[in-house]
Amino acid sequence: MVKKFTFGKPFDTEAVVQKIEASKGKLPFGSAKKAGGALVWTCPLFDGDKIFGLGETMRGIDKRGYVFKSNNSDQPNQTETTQSLYGSHNFLIVFGKKTFGLFVDYPGLVEFDLGFSKSGELKVTTQTANADLYFILPQKKSGALKEIAREFRTLVGKSYVPPKWAFGFCQSRWGYACAADIEKVWKTYRKLGIPLDSICMDIDYMEDYKDFTVDKKKFPDFKNFCARLKKDGVRLVPIIDAGVKKQKGYSVYEEMLSKKLACVKKDGSAFEAGVWPGDSVFADFLNPAARDWFGQKYKLLLDAGIEGFWNDMNEPALFYTKENLRKVFSRLEKFKTKPLDATGLFEFMSIANSVCNNADDYKSFYHKVSAKRAGAFAASKPDKDKNVLVNHAAVHNLYGFNMTRGAMEAMDALRADASQKTGRPLLYSRSSYIGAHRYGGVWTGDNHSYWGDILLSLQQIASLNMAGFLYTGSDIGGFNGDTSRDLLLRWTAFALFTPLFRNHSARGTREQECYQFEKPEAFKSMIELRYSLVPYLYSEFLKAAQGDGLFARPLAFDFEGDARACAVNDQILIGNEIMAAPVYVQNAIGRHVYLPEPMTMVEWKGGKIAAQKKLPKGDYFVEVPLESVVFFVRNKKKVPLARPAQCVDKLDWKRLSFAGDQSAAYELVDCD
Ligand code: GLC
Repeated sequence: MVKKFTFGKPFDTEAVVQKIEASKGKLPFGSAKKAGGALVWTCPLFDGDKIFGLGETMRGIDKRGYVFKSNNSDQPNQTETTQSLYGSHNFLIVFGKKTFGLFVDYPGLVEFDLGFSKSGELKVTTQTANADLYFILPQKKSGALKEIAREFRTLVGKSYVPPKWAFGFCQSRWGYACAADIEKVWKTYRKLGIPLDSICMDIDYMEDYKDFTVDKKKFPDFKNFCARLKKDGVRLVPIIDAGVKKQKGYSVYEEMLSKKLACVKKDGSAFEAGVWPGDSVFADFLNPAARDWFGQKYKLLLDAGIEGFWNDMNEPALFYTKENLRKVFSRLEKFKTKPLDATGLFEFMSIANSVCNNADDYKSFYHKVSAKRAGAFAASKPDKDKNVLVNHAAVHNLYGFNMTRGAMEAMDALRADASQKTGRPLLYSRSSYIGAHRYGGVWTGDNHSYWGDILLSLQQIASLNMAGFLYTGSDIGGFNGDTSRDLLLRWTAFALFTPLFRNHSARGTREQECYQFEKPEAFKSMIELRYSLVPYLYSEFLKAAQGDGLFARPLAFDFEGDARACAVNDQILIGNEIMAAPVYVQNAIGRHVYLPEPMTMVEWKGGKIAAQKKLPKGDYFVEVPLESVVFFVRNKKKVPLARPAQCVDKLDWKRLSFAGDQSAAYELVDCD
């Protein structure tokens, strides 16, 4: 059961699709008060209570003990003390003495103090006292976690389902400069027989980093190039950035301005900030007309044969504004004459660092929305069309969500047109808010080639699923920093269970394609396992999407009564049959695994199942050789395996073998 409580006059974030009348009177859990303009909701935490959720955040699956801030950030420094990442997913489940779900529907800054300041208190603070709080109360004692997650999705809508090919392997890198670079990736994978379904095109494909352009010098016959790859089962997936280059004669820029669809400053002129293309403007994605207009632009690439996109820099990232640069230079002026002592040096660096993603810059521009939607967030009187301006900072966390929404809504409309014979497009985004899960997936942004980031990705993926984002994955091998062969192997061995299966790295780092390392056949074997599992993964994904369930989830969701299972932070369930327990420590020969029920341990090696062993419930140290994948099939269940193919289109879904309990039944669900 869902109970809604409305405080003040909230902004309608459009995260919720099931409209619910607000309740009056006492809250079912905790208490709320206004404090210094903010809304503060607190509730006691008891010994043993756990807190699951909050989507893309740092730290474990159980988030209790730390503090997080919903403030979508272009944040490449993902350390344990980082409190804000690219997305804001204000949904959590308190699991313990009193189990319930809480969704804080608020478009700006929200702080979640999960027993950090006081170990026995959960405290949520929204920046102003205008918010909707949704409490989800489980009706049954057992299965409460699944029930709450399902109720939440009924509230916020069904999850996006990508096309099948999006479950294939994707090779990406920031720095593929031209068609020849991409052709080399394609041909090398095919030559080595390593399956591949897509290659991402990073900003380098554009003309001067301009959205919806393809550099003709680098890609002389783009349409034909796309067609050649597609014929061989490889799709190109271009990036689209939020910032649009300010340049006379560039039609996207000129149209955005002439149609008045840009975010504006107080004086009504278009807001400008620097991103990859230099000075740029930003479509006002909160305005439906701007959303639709920007979304229509994807057609330029769809018409060239593109079927998938990734939306980036949509927090939005702001490298600088001219206004702030002036301030920064003037604050740095004094250092020209003053010798730098230790304190001075730190001050210098902190001033210099304030150029990027500056809080004042986010306060300096506005969106146009209907007065009705804006509630107490209106920053101007309604105009003749009953629209008001809303300050960006107050609704900051909705920007990426609406960029993704605009793209998918426009692509859906194009597909509805009978003349467009394309399949469902692939779309995933860096920034998001609850609700964006209806339109696309997310990847977890700019991680590092750190061992700990394998574990982090497991934890983030489980938490993102709770927020409805089923199509997720991390940059395999790590985006920042130089990867190593063993790290990439271990990461691949985990990521092959995640829907988005993409190796991506930053310009300037060590080249990270599987064939850059000794014995690429070890990668081939792992990626072949992924392809064998595609029918299973896709089928389980569909079941989760259609039934409002979780594709990837913590053990607690299926073993609520088992305190040991509920405390596990480094194993997750993938669909209804598999448990993944990756190795994420350098030079480890294996790892400890807890089996909450009897399971079949499967070892995949050299492109086939090398061993299967039934194990009773309990604790194990499991040896996992570097070139093997070890996973677990749950009690009385079996997992279908197809024969690997070079691409998803070529998989034979009929000729299946099975891992696990051969006498068990498996229901394979398929669609288009
Ligand atoms: C951002 C993205 C990254 C991309 C880079 C260049 O850092 O997160 O994935 O490679 O921009 O476009």
